[in-house]
Amino acid sequence: MVGQAEQCVLGIESSCDETGVALVRTQGAGVPALLAHALHSQIDMHQPYGGVVPELASRDHIRRVLPLTDAVLAEAGATLAEVDVVAYTRGPGLAGALLVGAGVAAALACALGKPVLGVHHLEGHLLSPFLSSDPPQFPFVALLVSGGHTQLMRVDGVGRYTLLGETIDDAAGEAFDKSAKLLGLGYPGGPALARLAEFGDPTAYALPRPLLHSGNLDFSFAGLKTAVLTQARKIEGAPCEQPRADLAASTQAAIVEVLVKKSLKALDATGLARLVVAGGVGANRLLREQLDAACARRGVRVHYPELHLCTDNGAMIALAAAMRLQAGLEQPRRDYAFDVKPRWPLDAIGG
Ligand code: KG4
Ligand code: ZN
Repeated sequence: MVGQAEQCVLGIESSCDETGVALVRTQGAGVPALLAHALHSQIDMHQPYGGVVPELASRDHIRRVLPLTDAVLAEAGATLAEVDVVAYTRGPGLAGALLVGAGVAAALACALGKPVLGVHHLEGHLLSPFLSSDPPQFPFVALLVSGGHTQLMRVDGVGRYTLLGETIDDAAGEAFDKSAKLLGLGYPGGPALARLAEFGDPTAYALPRPLLHSGNLDFSFAGLKTAVLTQARKIEGAPCEQPRADLAASTQAAIVEVLVKKSLKALDATGLARLVVAGGVGANRLLREQLDAACARRGVRVHYPELHLCTDNGAMIALAAAMRLQAGLEQPRRDYAFDVKPRWPLDAIGG
């Protein structure tokens, strides 16, 4: 922020299947305070199709974003006139869905005569643990595990991100979602697979742990999906649920083992003793348990976002905008020409 005056940032998230709006207020050089946030999930709408239908997602964002904005302002006891900056998710994500948030943000800002700021969705996830009761300190290693991305980053400060490794094919969330589909589970697959896995034996199926010993920090989950497909075909028509639960548990165990071991390797490679986990898969209970146990043994602190801020939300977008402003990294625009970046690497945004 130019100077350290308090500023209210309204954030709008619309990159995929959740419309999120939030209001944060900067507090000097400290972590900005979350004043209110509201979310509408499109899960029920997309469920009959077994996945996100982009056109339906865009139309629903249009319907939801202004009522959610009203709800956030009411909850915060604030008015639009008190908003100093309007932030939106500029990418990555679905182009049509992103355009809704970008268009509404630019229009609102223009009407208010306030600046507008586009934010990187993954930076939002990455910084979301700062809103938790146990916020991290820089520097740290971040494990970003969402539906579209699986990355290990070295984070030295706001905007100072170095990519250490990433998936060469499917993301971890995608591996959960695709495996869930093969097991006949609904969308979104991650939580459904995790629920079924509770009843299964994680050692029942020997599934591959791709690139576990590759010597680098990259991931690959496409082979796992093929192995799950092979096993799922064998148990089709089984007289009881147990084989499906066992396969779900074995799949989850394979994904989690790779994520945990690669995170530990990233900590070794950087010499850092702090890990931040962010993105939807960060809500996975087994992943949290195994990371907590492995990191405790090594004296490494692990930080997570609050569970309800693991998946997409507006709070992380308002927060990322506020933290970038605080760090002096942004000149919010007043020309109201907006664009979106459906594909946008995080380490390209710099500081
Ligand atoms: O970060 P996110 O909400 O959206 C993207 O930016 O992609 O992540 C969504 C992903 C989906 O793949 C979903 O299945 C997965 O996170 N996910 C989970 C769990 N909750 C959400 N995966 C495993 N276990 C969970 N509990
Ligand atoms: Zn996300």
